[in-house]
Amino acid sequence: MRKKVTVVGAGNVGANCALRIAGKELADVVLVDVVEGIPQGKGLDILQSGPVEGYDVALTGANDYAATADSDIVVITAGFPRKPGMSRDDLLMANYDIVRTATEQSVKYSPNAILILVTNPLDAMCWTAHQVSGFPRHRVMGMAGILDTARFRTFIAQELNVSMESISAMVLGGHGDTMVPLVRLTSVSGIPLSELLDEAAIDRLVQRTRNGGAEIVKYLKTGSAYYAPSAATVEMVESILKDKKKVLPCAACLEGEYGIAGLFVGVPVKIGAGGIEKIYEIQLSAGENAALRKSAAAVQELVDVLKQKTA
Ligand code: LAC
Repeated sequence: MRKKVTVVGAGNVGANCALRIAGKELADVVLVDVVEGIPQGKGLDILQSGPVEGYDVALTGANDYAATADSDIVVITAGFPRKPGMSRDDLLMANYDIVRTATEQSVKYSPNAILILVTNPLDAMCWTAHQVSGFPRHRVMGMAGILDTARFRTFIAQELNVSMESISAMVLGGHGDTMVPLVRLTSVSGIPLSELLDEAAIDRLVQRTRNGGAEIVKYLKTGSAYYAPSAATVEMVESILKDKKKVLPCAACLEGEYGIAGLFVGVPVKIGAGGIEKIYEIQLSAGENAALRKSAAAVQELVDVLKQKTA
């Protein structure tokens, strides 16, 4: 029997997740959205690419969650995207209600699923889904680090005029302005980045990475990025469904690792059939550690607002 993935939110990120999951023949997909007709229409459209692209999966759209029953993975993308001038944090309250409802409904029908959060502000939405679902922490995770890292890798590859595939990097921390690109561990096929670029150039690329989401929002004006975010999300889906055990930067619930507790923050994890199978607590320099703490503090501020609201 094929695996089953629910994608909540049939906007640009959700629809592209569904398209990529189908294209890779990873699983049957149920696309859910509150707007009538949109998930059904987009689902059917993606399904009809199958004969041309050569994939055989079932793809259905729905407005209620009954159709999502017994999903192996639920990807939550539903929520308002950013507009120019907005930070990811400006979305906090509006998206809290959406993610809470999506989580409640999803876990009601798929109590054994693994939840992947994509909605912003990402780390606070992971916290919300974890609280609402009551799931163990290895079954709740957020997509951000892969995207931020992909942007960093892209900019480095462009700067050096080398293949993007040759760039190995890791961006940790919250999915916000305080994210922590680990320059020390960034390499080009094993060659430390610091041997290939001077400090000023590296700083420029780090800054562009931190601003990577906003750069796209500024161009699009009516929303935020979706091609790279969906690609990053589906890398997580694939690693789970194929039990690949990829080591990726993802938002994970920390319980003391890196001196952080009760918060979701981007850290290196192993992603396999069991969800987050391992959290790697790597040795950080004093500066990196301070940057990670600062990033966690920014996430904590948002979670404190949510705690007040839900108290
Ligand atoms: C971005 C938004 C989706 O980073 O958070 O593009």
